[in-house]
Amino acid sequence: MIKIGILTMSDRASGGIYEDLSGKAIKDILKEWITSELKFDYRVIPDDLECIKENLISLSDDFGADLIVTTGGTGPATRDVTPEATEAVCEKMMPGFGELMRMESLKYVPTAVLSRQTAGIRGSSFIINLPGNPKAIKECLEPVFPAIPYCIDLIGGSYIQTDENKMKVFRPKKK
Ligand code: MTE
Repeated sequence: MIKIGILTMSDRASGGIYEDLSGKAIKDILKEWITSELKFDYRVIPDDLECIKENLISLSDDFGADLIVTTGGTGPATRDVTPEATEAVCEKMMPGFGELMRMESLKYVPTAVLSRQTAGIRGSSFIINLPGNPKAIKECLEPVFPAIPYCIDLIGGSYIQTDENKMKVFRPKKK
């Protein structure tokens, strides 16, 4: 059983002003790629630092998420504080994920550099930030996902299996 937390940061979506399409896009794409049994905990919350930290901590410590995918709040605006909240709750940062997602996103949109998205480790949870645009979900997850299951293996999380025709992951051979 793979436990996945999905956390959408949006003042407007959490206030019911519009529907959260990005959180749904994350769930759909992970269900398409992962063949292991999945259990989701999906939350939509405002762009508030303390609230984001509390939810990341509870998804990791109480729900026991192997993977936590966030969307939104990665930009330069005053209320965009998702990377700060992520860094505050993680023991270790994994900056390569943000670097790769920005690099790949530049193929689609010149404003990709505006995202401060990052990733990190809390206990045996791997946390990764995606931008808030629904279109950004696949654009960002596709290039980095091949490395995520092995990263989760290394931190003592559950073993993720995927449909190789849809998402081929990479695990180095044991020496
Ligand atoms: N990355 C991808 N792949 N696709 C996008 O549409 N939008 C950019 C950037 N990264 C985008 C993207 C824009 S316009 C912004 S402002 C930043 O992500 C931050 O978005 P966020 O504040 O919704 O997280």
